Amino acid sequence: MAYLDEYNKSIEQPAEFWAEKAQALDWFKAPETILSKDENGIERWFADGEMNTAHMALDYHVEAGRGDQVAIYYDSPVTDTKRAYTYAELRDLVAQFAGVLKSQGVEKGDRVVIYMPMIPQAAVAMLACARLGAIHSVVFGGFAPNELAVRIDDAEPKVVVSASCGIEVQKVIPYKPLLDEAIELSAHKPEKCIVFQRPQVTAAMTEGRDLDWEAVMDNAEPAPCTPVKGTDPLYVLYTSGTTGKPKGVVRDNGGHAVALKYSMKAIYDMNPGDVFWAASDVGWVVGHSYIVYGPLLAGLSTVFYEGKPVKTPDAGAFWRVCEEYGVKGLFSAPTAFRAIKKEDPSSECLKPYNLEKLKYVFMAGERLDPPTYHWVKDLLGLPVVDHWWQTETGWAICGNLMGVEPKEPKAGSATLPVPGFNVQILDGKGNPVGPNEQGNVAIKLPLPPSCLPTIWGDFERFRTGYLNTFEGYYVSGDGGYKDDDGYVYIMGRTDDVINVAGHRLSTGEMEEIVAGHAAVAECAVIGVNDPLKGQAPVGLVLLKDGVEVDEAQLEAELVASVRKEIGAVACFKKAIVVQRLPKTRSGKILRKILRQIADGEEYSVPSTIDDPASLPEIAETLSEHGIRQ
Ligand code: COA
Ligand code: AMP
Repeated sequence: MAYLDEYNKSIEQPAEFWAEKAQALDWFKAPETILSKDENGIERWFADGEMNTAHMALDYHVEAGRGDQVAIYYDSPVTDTKRAYTYAELRDLVAQFAGVLKSQGVEKGDRVVIYMPMIPQAAVAMLACARLGAIHSVVFGGFAPNELAVRIDDAEPKVVVSASCGIEVQKVIPYKPLLDEAIELSAHKPEKCIVFQRPQVTAAMTEGRDLDWEAVMDNAEPAPCTPVKGTDPLYVLYTSGTTGKPKGVVRDNGGHAVALKYSMKAIYDMNPGDVFWAASDVGWVVGHSYIVYGPLLAGLSTVFYEGKPVKTPDAGAFWRVCEEYGVKGLFSAPTAFRAIKKEDPSSECLKPYNLEKLKYVFMAGERLDPPTYHWVKDLLGLPVVDHWWQTETGWAICGNLMGVEPKEPKAGSATLPVPGFNVQILDGKGNPVGPNEQGNVAIKLPLPPSCLPTIWGDFERFRTGYLNTFEGYYVSGDGGYKDDDGYVYIMGRTDDVINVAGHRLSTGEMEEIVAGHAAVAECAVIGVNDPLKGQAPVGLVLLKDGVEVDEAQLEAELVASVRKEIGAVACFKKAIVVQRLPKTRSGKILRKILRQIADGEEYSVPSTIDDPASLPEIAETLSEHGIRQ
């Protein structure tokens, strides 16, 4: 079917469209109510369907004769380990671990926090929660104890599942002390921690609370799949907002399964038995949707890669994995390809590999800048598909649908809205703007399946953060425009969220930490262009009157506190003392202008500015520090 027919049907007859897509899955009881409203007035999908996501992703395939097919290829250059798990093996492991969780009192609706590196046990833990109807919340391993503690307090898990360590290139990072510290910090105390001991580090265990993964697995009884409703939550995944408190994005079981299954064919053109590799981390939404759930729901083989695009051991790592497992679709963030290009500009590392099975490269997480797009396209001679999405949606909002009707790509554009997403560009008053005019990228309600129905425990935050700005629309927080052909260009966030190496971070949260330093009166953290990571945070710091500091020492202290509070992943490496910060007369710091100055962009001075002379002064300071481009 052509793109336009598919898209129009999804917008004009959403219930019919998604009812048909839902038939592709093995429900215990097929949904009859396709679209309905919940107690908050939010449109929900498949409310009366009965199902289990782990059944659809594993048991169903085993029963349908796919038991001997590889479900997960685990490839870990950092530990020199490779291992394949068939669908039958994975189902058995998941059932066994579900039995472990059950024996610890985990039931439908209970939360389980998973704080693990990129090892297959992370997927086993996620799917085991799904099997019990429990709600998992995976926390990315690069976050510091404080961040983990905040998530533990919000999700209130009965059990935490972790591992003794993660490995970053050659650096071994013991996870258990971080988990112990997080539990010290949190008000909510999980009853049990189940720890997978890796050979590189043996974690010290707390008597009575901590359990050894292998030991409890040996003694467990496999647990069956618990039926859940389509609208019961599968997981909560925390993402950065504009404040220090992360937002727990809630994902339904039913809509998620239907949307992901549909997307695997429609967007990625994957068929059962194909090999798909999302080179990301299970701690991010890309990892949830396209390392674990999407490929398994669609009967694919997924690659679980514990390594980096470079240095593990070289810039040929992606090409080696693609050849070795016969990857058909590769998905990563543009930053990963910029890292490969930087390390191996003449692509020597590609030469030894035969990539005849590779058909597509997909990118998301940040804007795919045209130079990176052209470099990858010319290098591989394959379609390079930029697609735009968010933790909140769980799948792509805009993209080029390889399995429906591939469109002529345009560098810098995420192509066209994906079926189900009525994407509109709105001005500040909520009126649609014309072609080529920039505005707020919004989605007209109802949102399609898989999108969040609420923020965990805080519906008001969902309403005020996303739905109240323009009536009848979800605001994405991104700015952009459509061209004359309706192609969508996502140009960057309109709020205090930045994307560093494809990782979503809050500058507001960093500001709270920087402002907490005894010498700091006020600060602004802005995201400036970075040739490798897309954006990098830079702190601009105003000192308290009369305070004298060694600026290098202050910078080192601020860098250390952000690393300690948020984690290494924040990549906060620069803090500069300034004399003044540009503000409006009502005292609001003009962060957008600061970013424009840092990036060497044109800017207009608002009439509300209090002190216009602060702008050239800031520009000079940024130039002196090598920030201004
Ligand atoms: N556990 C512990 N620490 C972690 C971590 C984890 N899971 N992931 C990252 N870190 C640490 C890194 O070791 C690094 O620490 P350092 O400051 O001590 O060197 C820091 O966090 C920053 O990590 P990162 O931004 O990833 O930088 P990098 O230099 O290690 O790697 C890239 C750069 C581009 C190779 C890497 O970011 C990458 O592969 N990105 C792919 C994008 C991606 O996965 N995006 C997810 C959405 S698709
Ligand atoms: P996350 O929730 O971590 O997936 O981050 C979502 C944000 O990343 C979006 O709101 C965008 O700002 C940015 N983003 C993701 N994919 C793209 C893309 N293809 N083009 C431009 N920005 C993107």
